[in-house]
Amino acid sequence: MKKTTKTTTIQKIKDHAIANQIPIIQDEVAKVLKILIETYDVKKVLEIGTATSYSAHVIASCGSEVWTIERNALRYSIAEDFVKNSEYHHKIHLIFDDALTHILKENHFDLIFIDAAKSQYIPFFDKYQHYLNPKGLMIVDNIFFHHLDPLKVKRPTRQLLKKIEKFKLFLSVHPNFQSQILSYGDGLSISYQDHERYIEMHSIIESTLQKW
Ligand SMILES: C[S@@+](CC[C@H](N)C(=O)[O-])C[C@H]1O[C@@H](n2cnc3c(N)ncnc32)[C@H](O)[C@@H]1O
Repeated sequence: MKKTTKTTTIQKIKDHAIANQIPIIQDEVAKVLKILIETYDVKKVLEIGTATSYSAHVIASCGSEVWTIERNALRYSIAEDFVKNSEYHHKIHLIFDDALTHILKENHFDLIFIDAAKSQYIPFFDKYQHYLNPKGLMIVDNIFFHHLDPLKVKRPTRQLLKKIEKFKLFLSVHPNFQSQILSYGDGLSISYQDHERYIEMHSIIESTLQKW
């Protein structure tokens, strides 16, 4: 069967990422994002951690407009080239900056996807929760961090694991958000302020994944 242009662009970015060892979201995470975007009619997405724009393209291909922040100059320039030549260029807004200090002009996002420095999950969450719609979702990737055993890793990795544990604790006692940690990809946390979504979301994801 002939491939569509859509498949070709996203696949090209994925192939480039794999060949150059640039970390990108796992296929299962791409599917979960797609399900959530379609189920909740997500129009505006903010992403922290563009890398070379693979996940931004996945998000844009589901129909959302995405603002995505990257601080690494080389990755940002590769993303720029991909977006320039992409059929989704009008849906992807690249921002070259450190997300911790960037002053974002856009607001009222339906979904915020955090896929950047694992040591900074709490500051990212704290800062960007104010950019979310009241019914919006906050999603954080790599919550399991490859299930590494803290007793079998070197000190810097152990420190990182501690920070991820702190983030999980932070979520579990957060006064405004309820969160679920789901075992898709390398672990995703999904947080919301809207209680109805909290109840229904996991079963929607499960039943849709089973149909695929
Ligand atoms: C796992 S990669 C993102 C992968 C991308 N979401 C994808 O699936 O195609 C994480 C990226 O976050 C970027 N990053 C880390 N901390 C950041 C920060 N404070 N501000 C902006 N980007 C950051 C890194 O440079 C890296 O390219």
